[in-house]
Parts: sequence; C-alpha cells; structure tokens
Amino acid sequence: MSGLFITLEGPEGAGKSTNRDYLAELLRGAGVEVVLTREPGGTPLAERIRELLLTPAEEVMASDTELLLVFAARAQHLQAVIRPALARGAVVLCDRFTDATYAYQGGGRGLPNERIALLETFVQGALRPDLVLVFDLPVAVGLARAAARGRLDRFEQEDLAFFEAVRHAYLQRAEQAPERYRVLDAAQPLEQVQRDIAALLPQLLERTHG
Ligand code: TMP
Repeated sequence: MSGLFITLEGPEGAGKSTNRDYLAELLRGAGVEVVLTREPGGTPLAERIRELLLTPAEEVMASDTELLLVFAARAQHLQAVIRPALARGAVVLCDRFTDATYAYQGGGRGLPNERIALLETFVQGALRPDLVLVFDLPVAVGLARAAARGRLDRFEQEDLAFFEAVRHAYLQRAEQAPERYRVLDAAQPLEQVQRDIAALLPQLLERTHG
C-alpha cells in the first residue's frame, strides 16, 4: 500500500498554505486520510533547522551550508512523517519540497543542479512527489503580498533578480516533466485558483485507495 505525495510550490505570497488547506478539506470530504505538512520543517527538529534557515543573522550563511541544512531537515521529515504516512496509504500534502531546493538554492543561489541531484538521491532514494502543484505569479506581486504580512525572513530579503531566477527554475522544471507538474495561475482571484484545484480532485481520488 502506498499513498500519494503531493507538494505545493511557488514563490512567497502565492497562497500555497491557503490552497493546501483547501485541497485537504476536499480530500477529507471524500474520506481520504490527509497529512498536512511543510518544509523546511514538519517535525520538531526540522522546525529548529527551519529557524536557522529563515532567521536573518549577521553571519552570512554559505550557500552549501544552506543546501545541507535544507536536506538535513528533509531527511528528518521523511523518516519521521512522510514515509510512514505514505506507507499507511495517506495523502501527504507538503508545502514545499525538493523543487524548492532546485528553485532557491539552484536558481536563486546559483548552485549546480548536479550537486542538488546528488543530495536528492542520497536523502530520498527513489522517492519523488507524485504531483507538484506550482502556484505561479509575477515576482513583484508575490513580494508585495509577503511584505504586507510583516517582517521579512532571510529569503524574503533577497532582491527581485533572485526571485525571477526562482520563478524561472520552477517553470523550467514543470516544463521538463509535465506529467508530474501542474502550473496554476496564482495571480487569479482565490476563488478561481480553488476552482482549478477542485478540477483536479477526480483524478487524485482515482489514484488513492480512499
Ligand atoms: P515558506 O514555507 O514560509 O514560504 O518559507 C520557506 C522558505 O524556505 C522559502 O523562502 C523558500 C525556502 N526554501 C528553500 O530555500 N529551499 C528549500 O528546499 C525549501 C523547502 C524552502
């Protein structure tokens, strides 16, 4: 028995968490066990690593340190939460996963994809998301929404060029494997985005054991 692993990706301010909760509600309404989680984080230890990653600090974090911390948190999260949930047949809805590493540490920081791919295989083995929902929106719109939420974290303090590279990396990955990715237009009104998500439900239910 194996569940379904769905991840939600996109820039800051794309509405990932709101839409993740919405999709969870739809799936639960259909009688499916849903596990909601996020990265970096998802376990107490991984949430502590998240703090290290997101809290602005005087000491500049080397990009490789950032990459290793992201995967350290992921190793913990996979072992404690994601793999057990999938093993019992649940649907795991995860706010960000390794596509964010390719987008932020690869696209944004400029680390080579090959280095990320090595760690991906090391930490995940063959496990990849069954479906990646990419919430796409113009960089300036996302940053304005993030700024309206209050204090900016260590990533949100990056410049426009960083986030353009992040967006480009997401879209490129979606293009390369269209069968595993859905790009949603997150600049639309929330109700429309949610209609797009609801339209995915029948095919998701077909793939679960719910
Ligand atoms: P958020 O989940 O609140 O959007 O914040 C998480 C931040 O961490 C976000 O700016 C993206 C960043 N991040 C990475 O840089 N690499 C990763 O692999 C993940 C999961 C997140």
